[in-house]
Amino acid sequence: MNVPLLDLVAQYQTIKDEVLAAMMAVIERQGFIMGPEVARLESEVARLSHAKHGIACASGTDALLLPLKALDLRPGDEVITTAFTFFATAGAVHNAGGTPVFVDTDPATFNISPRATEAAITPRTRAIIVVHLFGQLAAMEEIGAMAARHGLPVIEDGAQSIGARRKIDGTWRMSGELGTVGTLSFFPTKNLGAWGDAGLMVTQDDALAQRLGRLRLHGGSRQYLHEEVGTNSRLDSLQAAVLLAKLPHLPAWNEARKGNAARYTAAFGGHPEICPPHVDQANDHIFHQYTIQVSRRDELQAYLKSKGIGYAVYYPLALHLQPCFAHLNYGRGSLPVTEAAMDSVLSLPIYPELRREQQDAVIEAVQSFYR
Ligand SMILES: Cc1ncc(COP(=O)(O)O)c(C=O)c1O
Repeated sequence: MNVPLLDLVAQYQTIKDEVLAAMMAVIERQGFIMGPEVARLESEVARLSHAKHGIACASGTDALLLPLKALDLRPGDEVITTAFTFFATAGAVHNAGGTPVFVDTDPATFNISPRATEAAITPRTRAIIVVHLFGQLAAMEEIGAMAARHGLPVIEDGAQSIGARRKIDGTWRMSGELGTVGTLSFFPTKNLGAWGDAGLMVTQDDALAQRLGRLRLHGGSRQYLHEEVGTNSRLDSLQAAVLLAKLPHLPAWNEARKGNAARYTAAFGGHPEICPPHVDQANDHIFHQYTIQVSRRDELQAYLKSKGIGYAVYYPLALHLQPCFAHLNYGRGSLPVTEAAMDSVLSLPIYPELRREQQDAVIEAVQSFYR
């Protein structure tokens, strides 16, 4: 049986009528730019994120870039982040004029290590970017307290964690709730995916919300008056309409992912060569990815390919080892936990529409490889 890593067509078939109707409303009105759908999406996602403000923008990459631009970084200014993430996290730091400083991750969750983060703070540090990798929140209580001690803003890269939460002192805190800014990507493969590029920032800070809203519109708070230089990072009304139509389904989709994750973990738990993902007990993990760590990964990949089973390696070359960051002088051995992860991780199909017999085929293929 062929099982793809992700099947967007399966999802499309379940929501087609709702999404097309929402898009048609925009088309009939010919209101493509900054229409009412954008403002509605901003307020609905802010509500979901327990945030005061939502500011939509063109992509998850821009959602990182705009708050970094708002820091007015000067050459040599440092932003501490993880190297075990999608490229955009650190690319945005560079493009905002700063220098990424990579620190190691927690071996259990793959998220940034609070201790390593604190150890990397220097007088040039201007911010910390936390990535809630694969859909599980980082230790925000520790990172938040440490950042507050040092007077540093925290950007939560929540591209993979919409709707994920963490219980802190008895209260559920959402992805993006506790940071200075939380960012989201609605890239089509995300748990909430647009039909193109889309992103959004959330914040509790009134002044910052205003500035981010301006930066995405060429730095102007009204037409033809530019307080500063921004860029065009508007979200299309059509994409906002797609996302608004899909948003009510997100809780059920996230639950279906969790159910699939539980079935995998029940099947793989205790296996000597397969390490299922660790879920920190404070976390409600939304499983953007279900990522195991395995031995003999190259052979396993070839085997899965031969069986028609989809998989992916996120991320095979951590950011501190990327050629574009060679001038930062990291090398193999600089971040041992990150490097061990990049050498052993493998993500399996976890999408909500994955059928039981498809998941059984994935489990059987992985188990039979090690038999
Ligand atoms: C962790 C992380 N950060 C940033 C991004 C960038 O988002 P986008 O592709 O919407 O620009 C992504 C996803 O693509 C991501 O996974």
